[in-house]
Amino acid sequence: MADLLQEIEAQIAGAKTAAAKQNVGIIRELGDGVAKLEGLTDAMLNEMIDLGNGITGLVLNLEETDVGVIILGDYTQLKEGGEARTTGKLLQVPVGKGLLERVVNVLGQPVDGKGPIKSDITYPVEKIAPGIARRRSVDQPVQTGIMPIDAMIPIGRGQRELIIGDRATGKTTICIDTIINQARLNKAAEAAGDKAYRPLYCIYVAIAQKQSTVARVISVLEEAGAMPYTIIVDSPASDSAANQYIAPYAGAAMGEWFMDNGMDALIVYDDLSKHAVAYRQVSLVLKRQIYLETDLFYQGVRPAINVGLSVSRVGSAAQLKAMKQVAGQLKGDLAQFRELAAFAQFGSELDAKTLAQIDRGKRIMEIFKQPQYNPIPVDVQVAVIWAMQNGYLDQVPVERVKEFQTKFTEFLTTRKAALLAKIEKEKALSDALTAELKTVADEFKQTWK
Ligand SMILES: Nc1ncnc2c1ncn2[C@@H]1O[C@H](COP(=O)(O)OP(=O)(O)OP(=O)(O)O)[C@@H](O)[C@H]1O
Ligand SMILES: [Mg+2]
Repeated sequence: MADLLQEIEAQIAGAKTAAAKQNVGIIRELGDGVAKLEGLTDAMLNEMIDLGNGITGLVLNLEETDVGVIILGDYTQLKEGGEARTTGKLLQVPVGKGLLERVVNVLGQPVDGKGPIKSDITYPVEKIAPGIARRRSVDQPVQTGIMPIDAMIPIGRGQRELIIGDRATGKTTICIDTIINQARLNKAAEAAGDKAYRPLYCIYVAIAQKQSTVARVISVLEEAGAMPYTIIVDSPASDSAANQYIAPYAGAAMGEWFMDNGMDALIVYDDLSKHAVAYRQVSLVLKRQIYLETDLFYQGVRPAINVGLSVSRVGSAAQLKAMKQVAGQLKGDLAQFRELAAFAQFGSELDAKTLAQIDRGKRIMEIFKQPQYNPIPVDVQVAVIWAMQNGYLDQVPVERVKEFQTKFTEFLTTRKAALLAKIEKEKALSDALTAELKTVADEFKQTWK
């Protein structure tokens, strides 16, 4: 009896805590295809989160107070401060034979304009792989139809095979030929009424491929009559890193359905190096690192920090107030500059405002070039950025910006140490301090030739 009471008590306690669990949170931070959510205390790894506007987030990071999600869909429609709700569901995709002959995105939604997918079964995208005991040894061949492979490097059902080669060495072609061959074998067995033959269904997962490449693959498969045995999961180059990251898992889930139903499937991931890039990008934006870029480094922008991808875990909360005041605009200005600069390369005519933004951006880039082993005190950083954001460098030719910065820094440290000390001590730019900064900058400008 006492046991029973205890049991009931425990159950009531459990029910209470379950009810207290919060299922609604807010979007605290939005980044490039990812979001940080606050207040979702019972989110699960790989759970789908409803971010509103019909947009789904997938939980990839569980931290003490935050949940990191990648956004599947158009994240530009979301806003910081918006609501986020747990769904209790792991990311699912439709599975089954209804997907054959179709081209779908990473959520299993049709992108071929051929109407809805006929499937009422879904599978979680990240299922636990079957244990070794359930796997059988590999004894059934996959006839690729490619002689050197079938003769010398036979491939079996149930195994993995990596195809490695430089660009345009025929990697995709080997996979497509293999798919075409399966369609022929499947059809031949059907026509002959060969019940012993296990058809091999094919899933081609295109990860970050050019749209033209995928279109060619589709038309080749169509022409060869292979589409009735094939599913194409397409996460094109234009897709977000988050979607590209999910693509192979979505394809694997579709393949597992065939396996679970006693059929065989061949899954092609084309290609995993692109998946690695997507994965790295997703981890970077979720895990907060400073991201250094090779291109920038070789362009002489050193340190080669990619501002768009680099994010601070704590944000401006950990910044000196004075720095926050002067640097608030910088990230946006730089990001805008990168976009405009890319655009300007095409030689299009630019209006005065755009030109001014590009000019400012070039100067910001110059200011941020910094030799190694040469940390700059925060008071100097604040003064220099203030001068730039207030137009003191606008008339300085870009190639002389560094010189201006050096001379201005010298001027400040040798003749205006009192002002620097005040910035450091007060930690914020009061109106009085700003006025003082202006006087000093004007004074320096008189000496600058
Ligand atoms: N066996 C072959 N005979 C003739 N042409 C071929 C053969 N294999 C591939 N090609 C041609 O070579 C080109 C590159 O092939 P494919 O696109 O398969 O290469 P890839 O390694 O997948 O390229 P990427 O690195 O761009 O993904 C294509 O134009 C293809 O038609
Ligand atoms: Mg290829």
